Amino acid sequence: MARQHLIAPSVLAADFTKLGAEMDMVNGSEADWFHLDVMDGRFVPNITFGMFIIEAMHKMAQKPLDVHLMIVEPEKYIESFRKAGAAVITVHYEACPHLHRTIAQIKETGAKAGVALNPHTPIEVLEDLIEDVDLVCLMSVNPGFGGQKFIYRTLDKVRRLRTLIDTRNAATLIEIDGGVGLQNAEVLLQAGADVLVAGSSVFSAKDPVATIAALKAFKPVFDI
Ligand code: DX5
Ligand code: ZN
Repeated sequence: MARQHLIAPSVLAADFTKLGAEMDMVNGSEADWFHLDVMDGRFVPNITFGMFIIEAMHKMAQKPLDVHLMIVEPEKYIESFRKAGAAVITVHYEACPHLHRTIAQIKETGAKAGVALNPHTPIEVLEDLIEDVDLVCLMSVNPGFGGQKFIYRTLDKVRRLRTLIDTRNAATLIEIDGGVGLQNAEVLLQAGADVLVAGSSVFSAKDPVATIAALKAFKPVFDI
């Protein structure tokens, strides 16, 4: 059976003066999730939004919220983000000295637990934890900003992570975040990606709904 990938438009690239309309566009599209980027000005050099805005987005969203926490000490806020409506909560490996505990904490809330790796962090750091993780988010740009150039070295990380997950018979999803669009979606899926986050490639497109449909229509070449 062919693996069915998911598309998660990153709202960071939306026009916030008409957030409701932007979210309705995603609601009416073939997108699977909303990807929400929380930045604290400490883990990354930018600040976005927190649980208050996410709670409002949750009221408008007809698809699960995939919340990417680019913050220090995420364990302090997991409960609040879950209450705000997060279906997936992803923390950064680089921000969690007690990652195993933090993963358990996320799962206790009933949310799916994700771990994000910065471009310089090798996938091998997850070897002793991979079965416990619902999603690994490979950063294909340095986190902090939308609209950056895809780092091609990520492709090799996707392949190695796919091998690790399959070897362990784990159900972990591989998500790719940063610089993803029609130009590299197919090669990422062929390498073994499951979830494509797309910010500027969707929201800056002439026809965002058609772009989402095109991203969704790519077929990985392998079967599982
Ligand atoms: C970057 C964020 C990404 C970003 C992706 O720190 O984690 O989710 O919004 O935006 P694009 O797709 O424009 O690179
Ligand atoms: Zn993100």
